Amino acid sequence: MRQLTLPFTTAVTLKPDPVPHPFSHDGLCCEDARLDMEIRYAHLLEETDLFSRRVVSFQANKTETLHSWIKYREGFSAQLVETLLAELGIQPGQTILDPFAGSCTTLLEAKMWGIHAVGIELLPHCHLAWQVKANAFEYNVDELVQIRQQVQQQTPPPTTTTFPHLTITESAFPLDTERELMAYSHWFAEQDMSANARLLCQAILMSLLEEVSYTRKDGQYLRWDGRAAKIKQRNEQRLQQGKDPIQGIHKGSLPTVKQAFLRHLNRVIQDVSELQKQPPPASQQTVLEGSALNILPALEPDQFEGVITSPPYANRYDYTRTYALELAYLNVGDAIFHLRQQMLSCTVENKPKLNPLQEFYSSLDREAEYIEILNLVQTNSVLNEINQALHIRNQEGDVNNQGVLGMIDQYFTELTFIFAELFRVCRSGAHVAIVNDNVRYAGEVIPVDFLSTNLAETLGFEPVKVYVLPQQKGNSSQQMGKFGRRPLRKSITIWRKP
Ligand SMILES: C[S@@+](CC[C@H](N)C(=O)[O-])C[C@H]1O[C@@H](n2cnc3c(N)ncnc32)[C@H](O)[C@@H]1O
Repeated sequence: MRQLTLPFTTAVTLKPDPVPHPFSHDGLCCEDARLDMEIRYAHLLEETDLFSRRVVSFQANKTETLHSWIKYREGFSAQLVETLLAELGIQPGQTILDPFAGSCTTLLEAKMWGIHAVGIELLPHCHLAWQVKANAFEYNVDELVQIRQQVQQQTPPPTTTTFPHLTITESAFPLDTERELMAYSHWFAEQDMSANARLLCQAILMSLLEEVSYTRKDGQYLRWDGRAAKIKQRNEQRLQQGKDPIQGIHKGSLPTVKQAFLRHLNRVIQDVSELQKQPPPASQQTVLEGSALNILPALEPDQFEGVITSPPYANRYDYTRTYALELAYLNVGDAIFHLRQQMLSCTVENKPKLNPLQEFYSSLDREAEYIEILNLVQTNSVLNEINQALHIRNQEGDVNNQGVLGMIDQYFTELTFIFAELFRVCRSGAHVAIVNDNVRYAGEVIPVDFLSTNLAETLGFEPVKVYVLPQQKGNSSQQMGKFGRRPLRKSITIWRKP
């Protein structure tokens, strides 16, 4: 069996500059608590070229066997997970957890090494992605080749079934493309094939939606091509009102569903044929569907040897909007509003979740723990300083969306509940690795890595290390225009349960 070893002999490791930078632009707000924390934790910082932006993002997965099947912009790479498994000393036969599993990079990599794993994920398209990738060793290659031949040689009959659009996805496809998409979807549902192959065909269709559409995922938004009917109508109205038209993007010529499907299926057949030559040692992975805030408290304590995860960043990106096409395709309908509210608060639209969370802890007979955890957050001096600073900035008119105030407070409050549960479900000696970005709002820097570490420490974790990426993160043009440029850390924090 391959050995999980760290390539540290070739890695360049540096201690980054420990001199703390200002946190509050122009010194407008108090920053004492953030400065104190920065000095206290400076010794944890380590910069290593093992973790590049490419590895910490999905970029490195784009060419990876299996991981590239379904693109997940917000994912990290298999290479990162492999490095972290070695760093945390996780061995085959042990069990790890990823409470924000996304496209399930952690679980798939665990599977490759014979490591057991549990994942939690809220969004249904991620579950479909997991199911079809986890089946990689089960597919019958001959059957897949036969399906390829059928798709090459036949044209699916038209269907009256229409794409189950959400309001925000209307007119996302050229009309012919939408008809072709539904014809294939219907055809695959009817064809004589194994359940695994059928699911794979549906997942491939889901994975090519963006490619064949007038949209492009762009972090916070779904950007639209000017050719979409929705943009054309909006521009007619704007012109009538004497306004300039919206430019929109131009994606050039779009592939047909058949072309895109065959390209994806070819890749899958190639990967499956390779993977099945050398299956990994047997192990068990499970992905639980729902919110980590509700699933973690119900898990048995002391069961995991490690955690490798990346929560949504506090950057206002709304996954239910960026993945609206995929969610619509899976017939999510109005449930999308509920999913949006269940997400860890990372958008300005998220409403507070404390009341239902308290009821939930009470139902588990754990209300005292709920109160204790909440008290830890509410008395955290760094979070209080940040909340106060954002309120002052708001009074000064520097906050362009007031929802940011609640979002930041809720983000750390909810994360503290997650950290408390991670502490409970981890075994003594287990390590937790968390990938996250620092953020800046209205000229106030929010050190997500150190504040998370600080909250985790109050819950009982020992801070071990904060790996920082050599390439830091820039700011939005709005922030830079008003408050100048202030590079922000992208980090991997490592804690240990004593
Ligand atoms: C940064 S992504 C993780 C990506 C993952 N590491 C990968 O490689 O694909 C964060 C994930 O957390 C999920 N998420 C957000 N809120 C959640 C919640 N309350 N419970 C469970 N998952 C949640 C999002 O849907 C998203 O897939």
